Amino acid sequence: MSQRILFVCLGNICRSPAAEGVFRARAPHYPSDSAGTSDWHVGDPPYAPMQDAARARGLNLGDLRARQFSANDFDAFDLIIGMDSSNIDKIESLRPPGNATRVRLLTDFAPQSGADHVPDPYYSRDFDGALDLIEVAVDGLVAHLDA
Ligand code: 4NP
Repeated sequence: MSQRILFVCLGNICRSPAAEGVFRARAPHYPSDSAGTSDWHVGDPPYAPMQDAARARGLNLGDLRARQFSANDFDAFDLIIGMDSSNIDKIESLRPPGNATRVRLLTDFAPQSGADHVPDPYYSRDFDGALDLIEVAVDGLVAHLDA
């Protein structure tokens, strides 16, 4: 079954574009996108420090542009993946009646990490730490999808 994957964070300029960039490098055979629950950065490329940290790992995020998550995404994707519980709460608040699309935390796919969310590097400034966790969790996600 084809699985369309959407990564969601708050601004769509740090964590979710990084997750999308890692995911499309690892699993280009799955359609994927990312979005933010806010409209704060719509149309913007990923935050420059995150692009720099990603580029150092061979990931180019430069073509990505932020957009806002909407209720239409429940029909357009098969699996919606948030970075923290506030993302999940906002996503669920927009779920159309009767829709059964799966919504999960990215860290659900990295139980060995012990993390229950991806800390926001926009505030922590730990872009490499965020990428380390995102890479481990996306590996777990890809293994889950390919299984
Ligand atoms: P993100 O990080 O949700 O990982 O994209 C943020 C980016 C920008 C802001 C907050 C979080 N902001 O307040 O502009």
